[in-house]
Amino acid sequence: MDNPYRLVAIPVFKDDRGMLSFIENGAACPFEIQRAYWLFNSNQQLSRGHHAHKELKQLVICITGSVSITLDNGQSKDTLILSSPDQGLYIDGFIWRELHDFKDNPVILVLCSDQYSEDDYVRDYDEFKKIARTLS
Ligand code: TYD
Repeated sequence: MDNPYRLVAIPVFKDDRGMLSFIENGAACPFEIQRAYWLFNSNQQLSRGHHAHKELKQLVICITGSVSITLDNGQSKDTLILSSPDQGLYIDGFIWRELHDFKDNPVILVLCSDQYSEDDYVRDYDEFKKIARTLS
């Protein structure tokens, strides 16, 4: 199986005026963007996410501030810190994700391959583990 998540570099144009980044379908974003949402004013004491997606692909970009994301494939966990707007976390596998340690009032942009559908979510960790076992 391909790596279910990876960091991707987002192009940056830099000159005397500052920096500019962009994302287009096919370039930097490996899927056709159907939806964008963003998290802001996050409670530093709490975490969110706590789910996996069956089909949805996402590209997560921390535009300002920083956030930790724990990725769990059912067998092992990995925690990455996103803290730069020129880097995105691409998730395209069956991965349980939790966002935590919101620092410096982050704005976290999430680009998605499909419209919102609750049917695509697995929000129960035991169910997630059961499905993950069948995929390993
Ligand atoms: P929720 O899934 O609890 O957020 P998180 O996964 O970050 O913990 O989403 C909060 C609410 O927002 C929930 O009622 C579903 C709704 N929502 C939408 O209507 N559209 C969307 O694109 C997203 C991501 C959530």
